[in-house]
Amino acid sequence: MADIAQAALDVARARLAERASQVEWIVGDARWLRLREPVDLWHDRAVFHFLTEPADQEEYLSTLRANLAPGGHVVLATFGSQGPTRCSGLPVQRYDVAGLVERVGAGFELLRGFERRHVTPAGAPQDFTHVVLRRLPADA
Ligand SMILES: C[S@@+](CC[C@H](N)C(=O)[O-])C[C@H]1O[C@@H](n2cnc3c(N)ncnc32)[C@H](O)[C@@H]1O
Repeated sequence: MADIAQAALDVARARLAERASQVEWIVGDARWLRLREPVDLWHDRAVFHFLTEPADQEEYLSTLRANLAPGGHVVLATFGSQGPTRCSGLPVQRYDVAGLVERVGAGFELLRGFERRHVTPAGAPQDFTHVVLRRLPADA
């Protein structure tokens, strides 16, 4: 699991308790992560949408390609088209399904895509867009 903030990893590690030892914990920026070996699944909930500059989005997507095995899957969740415009005081990029697929770019096929309202632990509704993509084996 990777996050730019050690504090975020500490929370996840505490939740997993004894199972935390089965996870590799990486403090790093998702724009420049280089994993030891390609992974079959890339799961991002509510990180990519913090990248509002096209250059940062491109860095992230090239990192995704560098770390995901051909044929691997991507599960991405961002704020949806009607979702919040800011989170934790920061601006975010909102997407609908088509916009998110277009932003990820060629080389992936869409397996599932939908918008769904998520209710935070504090009771605030937030509209999210979810996509499940498969990297085409030829995209390497
Ligand atoms: C809204 S939280 C989501 C946390 C978790 N993915 C979840 O769904 O519960 C956003 C997380 O993105 C992390 N983050 C923001 N920008 C990042 C970046 N460039 N690289 C890696 N993590 C980042 C923050 O530290 C924070 O933990």
